[in-house]
Amino acid sequence: MHSLRNHKILLGVTGGIAAYKTPALVRLLVKAGAEVQVLMTPAAHRFVTAETLSVVSGKPVYTDFFEDDKGTWNNHVHLGLWADMMLIAPATANTLAKLGAGIADNLLLTTLLSARCPVWVAPAMDLDMYIHPSFIANIELLKSRGVQVIPAETGALASGLHGEGRMAEPETIAGEIASHFGKNPLFAGKKVLVTAGPTYENLDPVRFIGNYSSGKMGFALARAFYEFGAEVTLVTGPVHLNEPAGVQCVHVQSAEEMLNACLQFAQESDIVVMAAAVADYRPAEVATEKMKKNGDELQITLTRNPDILQTLCNQKRAGQFIIGFALETQNALDYALGKMKNKNLDMIVLNSLRDTGAGFGHDTNKVTLLTPDGKAQELPLQSKDAVADKIAGAISDLVQTNYI
Ligand code: PMT
Repeated sequence: MHSLRNHKILLGVTGGIAAYKTPALVRLLVKAGAEVQVLMTPAAHRFVTAETLSVVSGKPVYTDFFEDDKGTWNNHVHLGLWADMMLIAPATANTLAKLGAGIADNLLLTTLLSARCPVWVAPAMDLDMYIHPSFIANIELLKSRGVQVIPAETGALASGLHGEGRMAEPETIAGEIASHFGKNPLFAGKKVLVTAGPTYENLDPVRFIGNYSSGKMGFALARAFYEFGAEVTLVTGPVHLNEPAGVQCVHVQSAEEMLNACLQFAQESDIVVMAAAVADYRPAEVATEKMKKNGDELQITLTRNPDILQTLCNQKRAGQFIIGFALETQNALDYALGKMKNKNLDMIVLNSLRDTGAGFGHDTNKVTLLTPDGKAQELPLQSKDAVADKIAGAISDLVQTNYI
């Protein structure tokens, strides 16, 4: 099992019979080097004692917001920020349903809603509950929000029945957590800045000039760099996506706002990846009131937006690695090579709107990675997540041979 040294795990124990296995789970996590803070729902106390969990974790166990005897408040926001993973084991159908609905009627659920770290759950329940449509709908909803599920196993259940619903064994849970954190840390200790999405350039209080970027490519890149061990800041234009777990997100609207956010983080970043589709022009004037219809034609004067990529390249520090994207509709290769040369980029990722399933909005993309040494790596059409992993891998190869 990989070491869990330096990892902080918040373990939420809910009220199911499998809670009796949590002391063993805590011991395994602590033995692997993790710092474990246990939270319990009131119902969990029926199945395992706080004293046992406190002894094995070496920390007090929290259940209530207030410690009446000490007059202290257990700050759920602080707990959520402290952890780099929150694990709910066992996770009852009740707690999972409440989490899906955003109900926060105990310390554990409130902390879950405040947590910025990845959330993992190990469901445990009786076999009919495990296949009930409401449970399945809840778990799918949570998955779509990025919650990682360690599936229940098949075996003897507390009801006396035999089937699926037993919480995964502590060894399995600890093993999966360790392999998650032990994933090849290609970018451990590195800071990565990623941009994503479109920019919206206001015309008046109700209209803007924008583009069709969904942010999917940039978000996939942020996730990939985070999973490869980097500290990631994602500067994103207006999108309708869930923030990737573990990634610091900065939301902006216009190119100017995106430039300012990038300038704030670029200097400290080892790698900058510009996947955003930034508007090259913005209205020269923004009307303060809604523009009214007047005549058959309307002329709008546009003015140049800052070129964020160029600005960051102009102030590139030694050892920094800057990668741009090129979205083209014609003469794709020539334009992309031109951009890489003019801006002195370390790599440009070319995607063409002529390729089916590539570019704006799709869950897939087809890209070619171009580097200043003249190499071109053409990748097949695949999911944006897979493309992001490949781009991160290619950057890692270059970084290791050339730079940092
Ligand atoms: O968001 P999705 O729906 O998933 O779609 C992904 C994508 C198609 C938006 C993405 O893969 C992509 O190609 N992003 C760059 C799109 C683009 O604006 O290309 P460009 O050729 O106009 O710009 C070249 C580079 O300069 C880009 O890295 C861009 O971020 C940057 N740029 C452009 C203009 C500007 N004013 N400032 C910039 O920094």
